[in-house]
Amino acid sequence: MLASMDRWKTIIEPFRIHSVEPIRMTTVAERERALEAAGWNLFNLHADDVLIDLLTDSGTGAMSRDQWAAVQRGDESYAGSPSFYEFRDAVCSLFPFRHIIPTHQGRAAEKILFSVLGGPGKVIPNNTHFDTTRANVEFTGAEGVDLVIAEGKVPSTIHPFKGNMDLAALEACISSAGPENVPVVMVTITNNSGGGQPVSLENLRGVRAICDRYGIPLFLDACRFAENAWFIKTREAGQADRSIPDIVHDIAALADGMTMSAKKDGLANIGGWLAMNDDRLAEQCRNMLILTEGFITYGGLAGRDLEAIAQGLREVVDEDYLRYRIRSTEYLGESLVRGGVPVVRPIGGHAVYIDARAMLPHIPPLRYPGQSLAAALYREGGIRGCEIGTVMFGRHPDGTETPAAMDLVRLAIPRRTYTQSHMDYAIEVILWVAERAQQLRGMRIVEQPAQLRHFTARFAPA
Ligand SMILES: Cc1ncc(COP(=O)(O)O)c(C=O)c1O
Repeated sequence: MLASMDRWKTIIEPFRIHSVEPIRMTTVAERERALEAAGWNLFNLHADDVLIDLLTDSGTGAMSRDQWAAVQRGDESYAGSPSFYEFRDAVCSLFPFRHIIPTHQGRAAEKILFSVLGGPGKVIPNNTHFDTTRANVEFTGAEGVDLVIAEGKVPSTIHPFKGNMDLAALEACISSAGPENVPVVMVTITNNSGGGQPVSLENLRGVRAICDRYGIPLFLDACRFAENAWFIKTREAGQADRSIPDIVHDIAALADGMTMSAKKDGLANIGGWLAMNDDRLAEQCRNMLILTEGFITYGGLAGRDLEAIAQGLREVVDEDYLRYRIRSTEYLGESLVRGGVPVVRPIGGHAVYIDARAMLPHIPPLRYPGQSLAAALYREGGIRGCEIGTVMFGRHPDGTETPAAMDLVRLAIPRRTYTQSHMDYAIEVILWVAERAQQLRGMRIVEQPAQLRHFTARFAPA
């Protein structure tokens, strides 16, 4: 017998709307002016000028009634706030690591971890480093190496766990760098920069075995752990009857620690944490925390933020929520596939990734097809997506530039925020632009910073 909601094709949001935020309608002419003022970089837009904001799923979701109630319980004591213990216990109920260190968001956890473990000559493997992870690794002088399986680099290849680490490549990387130069192996679940694709339990066990062989700790970048656990439940043999928290426990038990952005599967607007079992490492990280974030029981967050995360963690492992979350993302993706739009498949957990390189073969990667497509979706329909390609990853620390592995436009879906009719509108706009893809032109960069250029660079039509 199918679970009750699986009988029906229509996906309903498992919530009613309790308070609304108006969306300001704009015209193409207004959006053209906004684009020009923003230097064709959608990060520079005023959010008021955006109709459907799919720039990121990070911190942009709607909090629940119970999270807002928890915010009211927030205790703002500088040290030892009850809100910290509420937060710590909620984290430990899913990830029972010995040390839970709150941070203001994910990259702060990365900054602290790599400040302690990184440095010149060190090599840090990952399935695919997210941009802030790579930047924090490289900032210490260490090298970040991406070792996702070959299927994970081909947008059209179907594979249930395209975020998996290439185990042979991991072993080869460790032997060639020398295990003493690999202070940690990271695995990102789900693999955001590789299309929001999940990692299987079996693959994590394989990574663990290699780490054990060389005595190297394994850390998770676990921003979307609940979505990853849902994919394990629905795709991995033998997992279908298990609860999501049980699967998360298995994931946690395979790792020595984690970095986390609570702005994703914490269902909160801000926050994160760093967790680990190693006492000495934890002490070093806490010293850095006090230097850069705040005291060890708040780490850059208000007590109310810690409460919102604690409640968010209880809600994110709910199966009705996860079924809706994954199916509604799939709905957007499958509708684009039916319309002939090339997208990364299978559809990821938090986002649909349009393959801009395949859609715009007349624009070479160094003329940024992803940036051109993202600008066109905004111009035509007020939809804000995010280039994940040569703008984001093409520039190297020595200033040289090469095409990234893929040129994608990510349409990230904020959690519990948009309805199916918002998605139907987005689908209509994207199909309209896709039919006229030949008319789009490339872009050139007129101004850029040395690091993380995609956030602030300015562009002009090439
Ligand atoms: C996989 C991954 N790691 C790390 C981060 C960084 O988290 P934050 O934005 O909270 O600093 C993100 C955020 O988008 C992410 O997707």
